[in-house]
Amino acid sequence: MKSPILHSEALKICVQLLFVIKCKAAVLWELEKPFSIEEVEVAPPKAYEVRIKMVATGICRSDDHVVRGSLVTPLPMILGHEAAGIVESIGEGVTTVKPGDKVIPLFVPQCGKCSVCKHPEANICCKNDLTNPRGTLSDGTSRFTCKGKPILQFLGTSTFTQYTVVDEMSVAKIDAASPLEKVCLIGCGFSTGYGSAIKVAKVTQGSTCAVFGLGGVGLSVVMGCKAAGAARIIGVDINKDKFAKAKEVGATECINPQDYEKPIQEVLQEMSGGGVDFSFEVIGRIDTMISALLCCQKAYGVSVIVGVPPNSQNISINPMLLLNGRTWKGAIFGGFKSKDSVPKLVADFMAKKFSLDSLITHVLPFEKINEGFELLRSGKSIRTILTF
Ligand SMILES: NC(=O)c1ccc[n+]([C@@H]2O[C@H](COP(=O)([O-])OP(=O)(O)OC[C@H]3O[C@@H](n4cnc5c(N)ncnc54)[C@H](O)[C@@H]3O)[C@@H](O)[C@H]2O)c1
Ligand SMILES: *[C@@H]1O[C@H](CO)[C@@H](O)[C@H](O)[C@H]1NC(C)=O
Ligand SMILES: [Zn+2]
Ligand SMILES: [Zn+2]
Repeated sequence: MKSPILHSEALKICVQLLFVIKCKAAVLWELEKPFSIEEVEVAPPKAYEVRIKMVATGICRSDDHVVRGSLVTPLPMILGHEAAGIVESIGEGVTTVKPGDKVIPLFVPQCGKCSVCKHPEANICCKNDLTNPRGTLSDGTSRFTCKGKPILQFLGTSTFTQYTVVDEMSVAKIDAASPLEKVCLIGCGFSTGYGSAIKVAKVTQGSTCAVFGLGGVGLSVVMGCKAAGAARIIGVDINKDKFAKAKEVGATECINPQDYEKPIQEVLQEMSGGGVDFSFEVIGRIDTMISALLCCQKAYGVSVIVGVPPNSQNISINPMLLLNGRTWKGAIFGGFKSKDSVPKLVADFMAKKFSLDSLITHVLPFEKINEGFELLRSGKSIRTILTF
């Protein structure tokens, strides 16, 4: 016989499924404007969708790129893509998560069926909403409305809201004991940087690395280089306030391009006796992408683009730069297959294989989201975690 408690739990879940949730969310109505905290309606999850109660979300530079117009998406939208929460309800057919599970939303989905998902190395599943953003879930619609208008979703996620709905292929169940206000960083910044070093560049023992940009993602690249056994890790940033923390997580030297007359790639070539083994651009600028390419050793250096470049700007280089043997590559989310890797990264965090504490400089209540963005823009924060 069913216990009355279980029965009422089941009823509660069924009833909840039918209801639209009204909650607070930060809506970006227009470019260059502050977020406005609005009451929004969050529709119940459809088949193969999951509704999540948000617990913590980080602020990533990619969110700010949207506000600034350098990452182009349709508006109005609820941004945020680096988060952790608890499943509130599930749609029909969902099998990989259940209400009450701790989860991380995935801004790169993993459908498991497309040619990219089936490829052993690639990770940008064809169901992604990055390359040609529609601002919707996979069925072409969003689950948010505000003042009668549909509000779009960012990268199949949207985490600057008390509740969100995502496709089942865009959410990963994680260890029930994990601290959500920390592991939310595994949803973007940490995994992107760490994977860029260990999985994309495949940094080798004893190598010399240069990391351009020492924000949350760049520091995670430094951590990855260190974990891979790099002997020298040279941090490059125009904000010298970032150097102490970079050294704390593994940088052996830090340099500011503004302190030199000559181009920074020449400085790095001299420092490394002809070019570094691995370089990373973790800023999102065309000029630094070229510097990062040029500073790596011309016959065997590997340069990885991690920063998101400004919309519709192109790079022009002399092909000779690659003909000698350099490798130039880029990756999103550290090359990790999201749904497979996120639970493992959380397990590694729980096993103390890395720490996220150095990345977290500020914790603010969700309502102070605009303050959190100001801290990022002024260079005062690494990661601000917004809590709900
Ligand atoms: N590929 C991905 O999957 C992915 C994921 C997350 C973020 N990103 C991108 O990575 C980049 C870094 O993200 P973040 O959150 O760490 O940003 P951030 O703003 O915290 O860090 C960027 C750092 O670059 C430094 N910087 C700015 N201009 C510079 C210059 N000309 N020379 C040297 N240093 C300079 C800043 O002082 C800052 O410390 C952004 O472009 C972001 O959009 C990419
Ligand atoms: C940039 O390159 C693309 C091809 O990848 C081309 O279609 C586009 O016109 C170029 N834009 C500029 C501004 O040169
Ligand atoms: Zn991000
Ligand atoms: Zn896929």
